[in-house]
Amino acid sequence: MSYIQTKRWNVNKSNNQKNYRENIAEAALWLKAGKVVAFPTETVYGLGGNIMDDDAVKAIFQAKGRPNDNPLIVHIARREQLNALVSEIPPAAKELMDAYWPGPLTLIFKASKNVSAAVTAGLETVAVRMPAHPVAYDLLLEADVPVAAPSANLSGRPSPTTADHVWDDLEGRIAGVLDGGTTGVGLESTVLDVSGESPVIYRPGGLTFEQIAEIVGHVEVDPALLSESETPKSPGMKYTHYAPKGSLTLVRDNNDIPELVAQARNEGHRVGVLTTEQRKQSYDCDFAFACGSDDDLLSTAAQLYTGLRQFDTEQIDVIYSEVFPEHGVGIAIMNRLRKAAGGRIV
Ligand code: TXA
Ligand code: MG
Repeated sequence: MSYIQTKRWNVNKSNNQKNYRENIAEAALWLKAGKVVAFPTETVYGLGGNIMDDDAVKAIFQAKGRPNDNPLIVHIARREQLNALVSEIPPAAKELMDAYWPGPLTLIFKASKNVSAAVTAGLETVAVRMPAHPVAYDLLLEADVPVAAPSANLSGRPSPTTADHVWDDLEGRIAGVLDGGTTGVGLESTVLDVSGESPVIYRPGGLTFEQIAEIVGHVEVDPALLSESETPKSPGMKYTHYAPKGSLTLVRDNNDIPELVAQARNEGHRVGVLTTEQRKQSYDCDFAFACGSDDDLLSTAAQLYTGLRQFDTEQIDVIYSEVFPEHGVGIAIMNRLRKAAGGRIV
């Protein structure tokens, strides 16, 4: 694709931005006019386009190199915006929105006829979420149109949690990026289908299984999340995702890592280890990344994608990763790590 000049607006409130309002207004105007603009959410950076403009939606797919059969999430700032997007709002969805919107929960509804097939990839459903990030909120409110936004990475790469990550992947391919600093959760939203009989989790994410069950009682999980022989209900889940360039293997027992590292180094590889602060110093490798702290899975989630990208920067070609407890947000962490490792676990 041809080169596009990419603008970078500073909207990081923590450094007392003077031009905050002007920057949001310009980005909103560009979005409305059909340009593609990246912005922070509480999960990861999104790559936004006006859903009323098919060319803008196509430009998102093109900038990311995203397969056409993978539908986008529509982002809104106000609950009223939902009515034009969906044909039905089931009671369970209402309760979930009351409890967790704005927040890292994407709901899948039966789509209204207004939603273009460019957004839904031709499905009869549409994914909608209301992000909980002041910049996303201000931008969506100002643009006053629903905004389709996948994660703002090149297809196949880890999702971006900083504007630098977005820049590394998409500079020259998109109109602009709002730099609002580091995102909070660090993993994508939980995708939950509420269009059928009972709610089904299609993608584990920032909102936990337990938090959903607390509101709706019974929650199902897409069988594809448990067995690799099933086809995922969420088209995006079938692609190898989040992968660093080096080959990644998950290791069940930390005690096995030193020998694996030594072996790979003997073979002449540059070897990295994904661990936590507690053990960062204990591995004799070329680069160890501390992915948060053992006693705080949220800190691990927040650091995971930075870590995966860092191995590329350090030109690591063999990576071993510790595994993390599979409860709370740990379920989403392990889902992403398994995908990044292409299922390799020893
Ligand atoms: O946290 C997030 O959700 C971020 C931020 C930017 O909001 N967005 C994000 O979008 O992760 P994306 O496009 O990277 O992932 C969207 C996922 C994909 O797996 C896609 O297949 C699925 O949601 N999805 C979207 N619409 C769907 C639908 N109608 N039915 C099933 N899955 C759908
Ligand atoms: Mg993505």
